[in-house]
Amino acid sequence: MAITGFVSGRSSTQKAYPGKTTPFVILTCLVAATSGLIFGYDLGISGGVTSMEPFLSKFFPSVHRKMMMAADRSSNQYCKFDSQLLTTFTSSLYLATLVTSLLASTVTRALGRKNSMLIGGVIFLAGSVMNGAAENVAMLIVGRILLGVGVGFACQSTPLYLSEMAPPHLRGMLNMGFQLMITFGIFSANLVNYGTSKIIGDWSWRISLSLAAVPAMIITVGSVFLPDSPNSLVARGHTEKARTTLQRIRGIQDVDEEFNDMVAASDESKRVRHGWSNMGKRKHRPQLVMAVLLPSFQQLTGINVIMFYAPVLFKTIGFGSNGSLMSAVIVGLVNMFATLVSISTVDKIGRRLLYLEGGPQMFVCQIIVGTLIAVNFGSTGEASMSKLYAWIVVAFICIYVAGFAWSWGPLTILLPSEIFPLEIRTAAQSLAISVNMFFTFSIAQAFLPLLCHLKFGLFYFFGGWVVIMTTFIYFFLPETKNIPIEKMVLVWRDHWFWGRFIDDDGHAHGGQEPVDAVENNRKVVSAI
Ligand code: BGC
Repeated sequence: MAITGFVSGRSSTQKAYPGKTTPFVILTCLVAATSGLIFGYDLGISGGVTSMEPFLSKFFPSVHRKMMMAADRSSNQYCKFDSQLLTTFTSSLYLATLVTSLLASTVTRALGRKNSMLIGGVIFLAGSVMNGAAENVAMLIVGRILLGVGVGFACQSTPLYLSEMAPPHLRGMLNMGFQLMITFGIFSANLVNYGTSKIIGDWSWRISLSLAAVPAMIITVGSVFLPDSPNSLVARGHTEKARTTLQRIRGIQDVDEEFNDMVAASDESKRVRHGWSNMGKRKHRPQLVMAVLLPSFQQLTGINVIMFYAPVLFKTIGFGSNGSLMSAVIVGLVNMFATLVSISTVDKIGRRLLYLEGGPQMFVCQIIVGTLIAVNFGSTGEASMSKLYAWIVVAFICIYVAGFAWSWGPLTILLPSEIFPLEIRTAAQSLAISVNMFFTFSIAQAFLPLLCHLKFGLFYFFGGWVVIMTTFIYFFLPETKNIPIEKMVLVWRDHWFWGRFIDDDGHAHGGQEPVDAVENNRKVVSAI
């Protein structure tokens, strides 16, 4: 029985608009992608800061006392960082991002993508100043909420901006630039923490938190000079400016074909009054399920246990402060370089293969890491780990992170941006981001208590989820490689399961029947 649709996507199914790949479009996409830096810097900085003694003794003295007691190795290693306040500090940002990304879709539509990025950069800048100058926990948390609002604007507007500016044949690669910048932000934060941890006293954490101002300045200043996307300009009635911008980014004068499609798509999307309620229609069910499940699953891989808490985790398994931060730097490097693997292969080998390779790789490593920790610490957590043993644990964590970085990381940002029909694209993008943030928040909030209670079983818990999500991808995710966005509905219509949700006029939005794509899909539907 044909169970799942593999779509090879011949280039003949692509609608090639005339135009060149101009240095201008590459530069604008590069500048816009830097908004991923502010998200990444946040993801990477808090774990290191919350393992710094001056920070803990100033803001979280009870955690500091517990940590000191655990240093003699006679207390439970699994529970030494468990503190509700400490987790609130880390996770408050993601709650703010969740709410903001829902609201930002209106701002992004009314004021344009560029202005949303600018607003995000400015608010983030204010948050970094507040955090660097913090004198009490309240200032810390308010600062982090401001950072979260900034990240919400950036994550809602940037992927849309990138998809709209990029020429179709470079869309995948340029979209993944955003994830690459996230990983660069995480890595820079790890490096900063490694440097500042050597400073004695409050300047250590103050410098780490204030340096968030650097990526904030980059995106704030950068977005002032960015042109808005032609699609957004058309949608807001600036038709002539949109045409000039399109001519500039495509490097040719005759952009009529692409421009007319843009105007038609904008007219069509204006006919849909409520993107949100329209999303509930039966024909959008497959994409809606993906918008909810992909980001949920991404977080249930347990990646942010490593990204937020690597230094804490490494301290737990017995590294000193220096060794823990150093290991976090190594993990950050692996994350960044492995993302490049995805960028260079995604349009050749496809999305499914990357997911189906990354999942099992992560699962095997999670089982090994959980078992290594179980063998060493048992369930009491009262032991110490030898250096060699701890480095073996770090090595398997790195292989796990590499698996994530070429599968669930970048693909889960790319897919929501390419599977939605135009009329619900903005709302669906907000939904995908807020679901991501809901799970990011929940896992940040739950990790330290979970580590304390599930102990080494925490790694088996996330490993179990990886099995579920990999099975889901195998049966339910159709291949979208090389399929033009306007013809994307065909991959759902021809899918063994999702096909039942798409009625015969479900593909009528693109206008002309894309015969090539239909034939192509049928030919390569693969049976298992
Ligand atoms: C995820 C983050 C994660 C990061 C790691 C992103 O795609 O949304 O939660 O920390 O990848 O590189």
